[in-house]
Amino acid sequence: MIRPAVELAAAARPTSPLTVLVPTCNEAENVAPLLHGLQAALGGLPEARVLFVDDSTDGTDALIRKLAPGLGIEVDVLHRERPSGGLGGAVVAGLASARTPWCVVMDADLQHPPELAPALVAEGERSGAQLVVGSRYRAGHRAGGFTGPVRSLISRLCTRLVRMAFPRTLAGISDPMSGLFAVRRDLWESAELQPEGYKILLELAVRTRPSSVAEVPYSFQPRHSGESKAGYAEGMRFLRHLTRLRMSGTRGRMIAFTLIGASGMVPNLIVTWALVRAGVHYLLAAILANQAAMLWNFVLIDSVLFHHRRSGRGRRRLARFAVLANADLVGRIPLLSLLVREARLGPVWATGATLLAASAARFVITDRALYR
Ligand code: GDD
Ligand code: MN
Repeated sequence: MIRPAVELAAAARPTSPLTVLVPTCNEAENVAPLLHGLQAALGGLPEARVLFVDDSTDGTDALIRKLAPGLGIEVDVLHRERPSGGLGGAVVAGLASARTPWCVVMDADLQHPPELAPALVAEGERSGAQLVVGSRYRAGHRAGGFTGPVRSLISRLCTRLVRMAFPRTLAGISDPMSGLFAVRRDLWESAELQPEGYKILLELAVRTRPSSVAEVPYSFQPRHSGESKAGYAEGMRFLRHLTRLRMSGTRGRMIAFTLIGASGMVPNLIVTWALVRAGVHYLLAAILANQAAMLWNFVLIDSVLFHHRRSGRGRRRLARFAVLANADLVGRIPLLSLLVREARLGPVWATGATLLAASAARFVITDRALYR
């Protein structure tokens, strides 16, 4: 049986120093009760500290500085004048300035019970895990803190989607959308994080692939005061983040690249067909159709797949891309005749083989040279 979170918190005391990292954006009404909760949770733990990364405009940072002395725990505030990356950007900034071997990331609105912070670290020490996730979807939990059945359903569907997208990496994480987790220093230092909005745990898990993960069940509480900042825009940001993470490995990019390349067959065949019908010689038609397919591929690759890595002027990128696409045309003809005459392949099979070979070569060159 899994013990309820609060009981576990009382039993488990960590021995390593830890930082509780709290991102805040206009949480003036929540910081006092949160600080008192953290005071109770961290009191008596040597070297425990709290670090707020604040993007507020309502004076949350000043209020924290006013309340902190006299609590008996060390509290720092990192106020960002020019916030970037939203919630995830704030967490990454906090990780970069934390000095302790463990960090616990926790929301400021008391949806996450403060007494769980030491329990998460203690569980990491006990199990040897590099990442300990506070999970709302484990026995002993109650995910009652959602603002309504719609938010709850959306959260469950997103969790499904995310676990389907990364079945292996997230095998041991029942709540990859959680905003409550503890992370060990070696893990957060092992990868370059590119935060995008809310799902910082997902970013961390996918980019660092922790060798072991533990979970601690907890009950998601209703927000203490104020409203969630998540909305439609944050939802779209999440989908973009997910796509980017999915394509971040070479294998993911290669699959997307191949699909885009294959889709170029459509404009290619339409143009060939139209030109031949208009009386153009089929070899010339093939060369012209190749340009149409090349343009099609360029638009998709440049504006979607390698969007984040492009540099220089668009015309220059197109020119280099066009050279590559036509070099491929030149290279495929001798290979085609070789396959047909020496290997005695049928012309259709031989053409297919040259297309696949050209696609693989194009990928390597695009990935390693054009968009380095
Ligand atoms: N510094 C900073 N910058 N903090 C932010 C920002 C930002 O742009 N946006 C939000 N925060 C802070 C809030 O002040 C709060 O402390 C915490 O991040 C969570 O924000 P909420 O607006 O309360 O988010 P939520 O309750 O909708 O979502 C939470 O639960 C989700 C699970 O349902 C978050 O923990 C999500 O990460 C989590 O997926
Ligand atoms: Mn919240």
